[in-house]
Amino acid sequence: MSATIIDGKAFAAKVRAQVAEHVARLKEEQGITPGLAVVLVGEDPASQVYVRSKGKQTVEVGMNSYEHKLEADTSEEDLLALISRLNNDPSVHGILVQLPLPGHLNSDLVINSIDPAKDVDGFHISNVGLLGTGQKSMVPCTPLGCLMMLRDHHGSLSGMNAVVVGRSNIVGKPMAQLLLGDSCTVTIAHSRTKDLAAVCQGADILVAAVGRPEMIPGDWVKPGATVIDVGINRIQHPENPEKTKLVGDVDYASCAEVAGAITPVPGGVGPMTIACLLANTLTACCRANGLAEPEGLTA
Ligand code: GUN
Repeated sequence: MSATIIDGKAFAAKVRAQVAEHVARLKEEQGITPGLAVVLVGEDPASQVYVRSKGKQTVEVGMNSYEHKLEADTSEEDLLALISRLNNDPSVHGILVQLPLPGHLNSDLVINSIDPAKDVDGFHISNVGLLGTGQKSMVPCTPLGCLMMLRDHHGSLSGMNAVVVGRSNIVGKPMAQLLLGDSCTVTIAHSRTKDLAAVCQGADILVAAVGRPEMIPGDWVKPGATVIDVGINRIQHPENPEKTKLVGDVDYASCAEVAGAITPVPGGVGPMTIACLLANTLTACCRANGLAEPEGLTA
């Protein structure tokens, strides 16, 4: 069998188009422009690339983008003061503090100082609690993107066995909550799981979010299963040691032979993350103004 490729790049373009259409209507009918503030502390090169990309895509869908670039040695007090200003600014509907933060800053404290209604990352403890109890929340972008692709591919996920490999707060745990919310039977596996191969082999839906290049081989995949690869790992190119190559957490070639459907790396989950950030900003803006939320763009 050769798996259907789930094209995240095309799906993300569709999501962005939906967001752009809704934003245009908001502007025309309500005179409201959604605004996203992104805060970057320091000069981590990967974070700089992400933040630039977020700003560019925010403007492309017609929203206002506010970038706040702070020195690496910014004090916690100054960062908290900026977040407080953004919390109180009615033109800002979404706030994202790019992680990781420099070591002297307490990430939990900083994230939990964001107004939960503007927490478009869904990392605030209030949103984590709301998601865990099945209440309306802001949902972390990467797992939301995975859920959208799964719903699009399968329709209902009810009763399916889902295995999430990885237990991070950003992906693994919220992904498991979302799958549970869609009535999957969910297992969270991780580096200490006994007989990980057997656990994975029971999955109708296998989500790999461990951050280890090509860790999951094809013989861990149940024939016909759907494989969602969240990993983005840069490795030395196998044929040219002077070059690098992006790979996921699953061994794509062998998994694609067994799976029913699979997301590629690059071009799978990756592009969906920023698309969902824009969707979350729009959702936050609609909620703040007591307007109907965009359909199909929330959990
Ligand atoms: N750093 C890597 N991924 C993310 C993300 O999804 N949100 C934030 N805020 N920082 C990140």
